[in-house]
Order: sequence, then C-alpha cells, then structure tokens
Amino acid sequence: MSNNSIGYSDGDVDTNESSNRSLNAIIDERYSRRQTIFGGLQASAFAVFGSALLSACDDDDAQQGSAITVNAGADAATTSGNAVTLQGSVTGGTGGNSWSQVSGEAVDLVMIDQNTVTFVAPAVAEATALTFRFSAENGLQSDETVITVSPAALNFDAVPKNLDDVVTVPAGYSVSVLTALGDPIIAGTPAYANDGTDTDFASRIGDHGDALHFFGLNAAGQRDYSASARGILVQNHENITETYLHPNGPTNLSGGPRPAAEAIKEIECHGLSFVEVSDDGSGAWSYVQNSAFNRRVTPNTGTTFKGPVAGTDYLKTKFSPSGTSGRGTINNCANGYAAWGTIMTCEENWAGYFKRPSSGAESDEANRSVRERTALARYGVRSTTGNYSWSTATPTQDIFTRWDARAGTGAATQDYRNEPNQFGWVVEIDPYSPGSTPRKRTALGRFGHEGAWMGKLTPGKKVAVYMGDDSRREYLYKFVSASNWDAADENASDRLAVGDKYLDNGTLYVARFDANGSGTWLPLVFGQVPNRPATGGFPEYVFESQADILVNPRLAADAVGATPMDRPEWTAVNPVTGEVYLTLTNNNAANRPLNDTDAANPRHYNDPKDGKDQYGNPNGHIIRLREAGDDGAATGFTWDIYLFGADSADADADINISGLTADNDFSSPDGLWFSRDQNAAGQVNPLLWIQTDDGAMTDRSNCMMLAALPGQVGDGGNVTITNMDATGATAQQTTIAGADATAATLKRFLVGPKQCEITGVDTTPDGRTLFVGIQHPGENGTYDAPGSNWPQSQSGTTSGRPRSGVVVITRDADGIVGL
Ligand code: FEO
Ligand code: CA
Ligand code: CA
Repeated sequence: MSNNSIGYSDGDVDTNESSNRSLNAIIDERYSRRQTIFGGLQASAFAVFGSALLSACDDDDAQQGSAITVNAGADAATTSGNAVTLQGSVTGGTGGNSWSQVSGEAVDLVMIDQNTVTFVAPAVAEATALTFRFSAENGLQSDETVITVSPAALNFDAVPKNLDDVVTVPAGYSVSVLTALGDPIIAGTPAYANDGTDTDFASRIGDHGDALHFFGLNAAGQRDYSASARGILVQNHENITETYLHPNGPTNLSGGPRPAAEAIKEIECHGLSFVEVSDDGSGAWSYVQNSAFNRRVTPNTGTTFKGPVAGTDYLKTKFSPSGTSGRGTINNCANGYAAWGTIMTCEENWAGYFKRPSSGAESDEANRSVRERTALARYGVRSTTGNYSWSTATPTQDIFTRWDARAGTGAATQDYRNEPNQFGWVVEIDPYSPGSTPRKRTALGRFGHEGAWMGKLTPGKKVAVYMGDDSRREYLYKFVSASNWDAADENASDRLAVGDKYLDNGTLYVARFDANGSGTWLPLVFGQVPNRPATGGFPEYVFESQADILVNPRLAADAVGATPMDRPEWTAVNPVTGEVYLTLTNNNAANRPLNDTDAANPRHYNDPKDGKDQYGNPNGHIIRLREAGDDGAATGFTWDIYLFGADSADADADINISGLTADNDFSSPDGLWFSRDQNAAGQVNPLLWIQTDDGAMTDRSNCMMLAALPGQVGDGGNVTITNMDATGATAQQTTIAGADATAATLKRFLVGPKQCEITGVDTTPDGRTLFVGIQHPGENGTYDAPGSNWPQSQSGTTSGRPRSGVVVITRDADGIVGL
C-alpha cells in the first residue's frame, strides 16, 4: 500500500463545502462541528477559540475584504501500520500553520513542514475514525479531516516461489545487505578479501548467521529499547561452510591432522557477533566498524556457569577443576530476549564437535561408567573425529585438544571427558556491557537448544521460558522462575544480576500433548522423576540429583512420558494473547512411521521431489498452546496445530490440511517470531513471521519467509486424516487443526538465494526496518564451484564465494514492514 497523500477535498458531512467558502462560513461550521465532537464539557474552551476566530476575522481579512480558505484535505481510509501523510493547504493566508489531533487513538504526528505531517496508522480492532485539525494563521482558522483506520492486513503481493540467486521481496519493498561473513568489526581489521586468505575471525562477522536481535541505543549511546535509528545487532553464528573459508578448501578435514591456522579460523567463525548498526536518517543502514559495543564471543571466550549444575562434578574439566567456568559457546542456533536487556543464545548441535567414538580401538567406553555411557548415547556424543577434527590440529594447543572428549584412566580433571557437559545450555550475554562474561544458565536444562523465548510477562507472576530441543522425537520444555516478575527489573543497571534472579532458580517442565487437545507440563524435579527404564541396550538410569536431571533432561523427559515431537525448532509467543507457537520442522519415515503418529504429530505421507519419494512428515507443522488461566506457571494447557506445511502442487487434502496455495505453501518451518509489541504489527492481532530451513520442497523454491496473521487456539476443529506409507498401507489419525490459511492470513514475503536457509528476524522498535538472516547460501558448492554468488549476486555480480549475511528490508513508501 502506498502512502495516503491527501490533497484538498474535505468529504466530511458538516464541512463538505466548496473550496471558496468565506471565513465566516467556516467559523460557523467549525463551531457546530466542535460542539458535536466534544460536547458540553469542552464548550467553554471552544467559546474562547471561537471568539478568537471572530476577532481575527475583524482584525484582518474581513476588514481587508479578502477571503481565506484553509483546507485539511479529503477524508481517507487505511489499515494499521500504513504511513499517512496529512497535507493541508491555505489560500490567501500568511502562515503560522500546524496540525493537531482532535480525536481517536493518539498518534505521533511527525512534522515535514508547516502544512504537512505524517503518522503511522495505529493498531485497531475495528474500523476507527481519527480526526485531525489543520490550523492556519496561528490557530485563527482551521479545517479537519478524518482518517478511518481498519485492522492490520497483509498489504503486499505474495512473492512467487523461485530458484533465483537473490533475496526477493514484494514490490514496493527494498532490500540491502547490512553485514556478511568476514566483515571487519574491530578497528584495524582489514577488509574481507573473500578468497580464503582472511584471518582474524575473532574480529570479523562469523559464519552461518542464525537468530538475531536488535538492541536499541539512543543518540548518547545508551541502552534505549525504543530507539529505532541506532542499536547493537546481536547475531548467532551457528556453523561454517568450511570450503569457502580456506584458499583451496579445508586440509585433512576428516580425521586430521588439521593445520592449526585452519582450525583457529573455523573455531572463531562460531559463536556470536555484536555490532553497532545505524540508519543515516534516510533508511540507509550500515554497521560501525570501530564501535566500542562491537564484540565477538567465540568458542574460546571465557564463560561462567550459574544455577544448580555449577560447581558439580558434571562440569569439572582440566580447564575448570571447580566446574564453575568454561570456554565459549558453539552451534548457537535460535535465541531469546530478556526484558532486562540481554540476549539468551542457545547451543543446539554441539554433540558432533567432539571426538568420542563409542566403539573401536579409539573408543573410551572402557573408561566410562554405565551411567555416562547411557547419557552420552542419549545425547549422541559418538563422533569418531568431531565435525572438523579440531582436536587433531597441530601444533597442539589446549584450545584444540579440548575437543577430544575421550575419558582417560585418571581423574576427570586431567582430561576433557566432561567438556560435552559444558555445552547444550542457554547462555545469557549483556550486549550493553561488552566486557561482561557470558553466563550459562543451567537451571534451563541441557539439550539441543533451538531457542528460549519468554512468555508474556505479568508483574507478580512467574517468568516462563519456552524451549525446543531440535532432534527428531525430542521434546518441548518450559522453565518457570522461582521469582515473580517485577517490572522495575527491566531497567536495572546490572542486567546479568537480574538474569541470576529469574534464570538460576525455578522448575524445568516438559510437555505431554494429549489427543483431546489438552496438555500437561511434567515437572523434571529430583524425587518426582521415576527411573528411566532400560532401553536400547542400556540399563535403567537412576537419577542421583537435580544436577543430574538438568544435565540429562532428555533422560528425565523419557522417564516421565513426554510427547516426542517432529523436531522442535523455534518458539514464539503472541504478545497479545500469550499463546505459545512451536515450529516442528519435519520428520522422516524411520522416526515417525505410519503407525506411530499421534494427534500432535499426525502425518505420515509422501512429498515427492525430483522424482524421489520423501515419506514421513517432510514438510512439518506449527503447533501452538494456550496456558491454563493464561498463566506461564500453569501445569495444564490446550493446543491445536496452527498450520501444516505442504507442497500445494503435490499434496491432497489429507496432506494439505491448512489449504495452502501457490502464494503461501511452504515446507520445514524453523524460524518463528512475532512482531514487537512496540509498534502496530505486534498489537491487537500481531503479525507472525515464519522462516524455512527446507530440503523437501527445494525443487520448487529456495527457502523463504512468510508473514501471517494467525488466529488463536481452537479456531479450527477436529480433522481425521488418512496417512499412507511407502508400501501403500494406510492408517487414520485424528488431530486438531487450526482454521485454514487464506490469502488474508498467510502470504509469502521473501524468497532467499540458492542453497540458503532463512533464519534470524527482528525489526527496529518502530517496525519500519526488518532484519533477516540469510544463512549458508551455496552450502552445497565448493570454493572452486560455488553453489551461490550471494551477496554479490544481489547487486548483479554472478561470481565470488557466497557469504551468510543480514539484510535490511524497508518499505519504499514508509510504514511498518509487512502491513
Ligand atoms: Fe539450528 Fe534446529 O536449527
Ligand atoms: Ca514436492
Ligand atoms: Ca533453526
């Protein structure tokens, strides 16, 4: 939608006159109109205004015999989030013009000149009239206009699926690259050559940018969560595409020995980046290389353990004999924002980085207890070399050998057998205090953390944090604080101390989804969790402490009968209703066979791609829940499946349950985020953003992002579907589906470049600038045959190595992105 630029033609009933009215006529009408609007209470104030007008008439125009006309412009209609320009005009006047609001929900009028102001249409639940007055001659004459605002709508044309090597956004939007792999963020670091020769990645933007968040700064460079022109962009760097990081790809990747310089580069490409970004005032964003806020946190950065596991034997290593400190964070996937101004970054697929073969000549099984072997197997710590064989790097250093997690015959503090226990946590970091030490919050449990999103905060109520464990058949967790929320803590100066208050003491729960649409949060509390039964060749596991449960919540969740899900990814919380959304990205036939579906994970079907069958739940779905009593501390909830992914061209009604079309079909939802409640996109009926990390529908389209206006739990109903496996066998499954998607409620907003994943999303507080992460473009290529040329390709250059990056998206006509 373009601006509503309103010229003269007042269509309101009692001011609908020709443009050549006399001053006295206007005064008479104004008096009448104002009485109507404000009624008796305001009558005396208006009388003063009225006599001033009459006086002005006598002193100036009437005596001079000249007529002045003042026009506020035509009435108009728009929807929430659009920018509206009010353009007044005066004939025969001498200046002193201004705009003010007369009635309706208050908006911020931004002055362009004395005749012109703009504002963003506010969030409304129903069509709402806003009246504005244009005054001339220092208030002696005026006219009014009425702008009727209707509820938020997805006012853009759907972006078609495509396989192009660029970021495609809707007509009327602009996209530019803000940061990319290798950009120097510390003074003196040279520009990125992007040919494999670059070093010093602890001073550059890392690889595989994932979740991100914008932390505002005011003009003085202080924390200001409402600032939209300057801030610190915090981004996770989940992983690497190693081929592009070295001149001729990696050396001895599988098993080593790895050259130390290559290993250091790859290690430092992981972690997080903190970089100051700003808008030059025209919507052109750039990052500030020399900002004092810029920081890299890498796998080598010092960390502190907090909460119940800190100081226990589980965390003791050669580096940390006390079990209270560690080094770094790895495979940082999604995140969470704490209202006191910190980031909660999450460690996802950390297990594969460690060398710890579970069988064969190099195995350490003989030096491990049965309990350790059970836990290591459950968490998949069984790589023969570690993902990138870092432990083999030569010359040998401790920062390399720490990735060898094999137990020796001596004490645990003589090796790194417990190093895998130091990962899999939610890590809280204060972006506004670049020298602060990240704190690992052990009370939130250790698993393949995708994200950690807080429930709606209510003063006097406990704080809930919702967290997915991303592996097939893993669980949804919730942490509930012991402390009640005190809104004054939002502005505390020691932000990590506030984190201590809410995130170090509380209860971890895991979700069970029942077939009738109810659900239960099962507490993972020592003394209440039964032994985990013997399974898969492992004996019964007897929990020995709360620390044991928090290091091994997967074992505890197995024991209490939680519901295994189709790969829990991001959580998102509707800022108005408090409902919790969870992406379940996909599952396969082995892990979700025909006769092992349930109401919450109901599908087993085929989505063919390039002539190849893909059975299971290849396209994924999004489940949502509402806490009993809308209380984050509740132990019961209701749920439904908001949306089912599907390839609309291949899927029948048993698969395409949400009624997707070519304009909104998608596969493998992953990133999930509700717009901030600081602007109209996050109010009344908040806008939800859905990002994909897909491999199932990539014959039709690169990964994408959609915008949605979802309803609420229970807006659909029971559906019984017929599943079918690869043998042709069928089975019925009943589930609870949300209302069908329509063009008004779900629309594709963006398609990424080749071989990328779309992940990471935030806006400025005003909603006018959208930040989106483009992860691993060209991930299937090699340094000499890149799979993509993005970001160079965004400006037409079809050569060069691809780089993960962050794009900025704005509306050409101003206004809130997506509305
Ligand atoms: Fe790192 Fe589950 O995505
Ligand atoms: Ca298909
Ligand atoms: Ca993800």
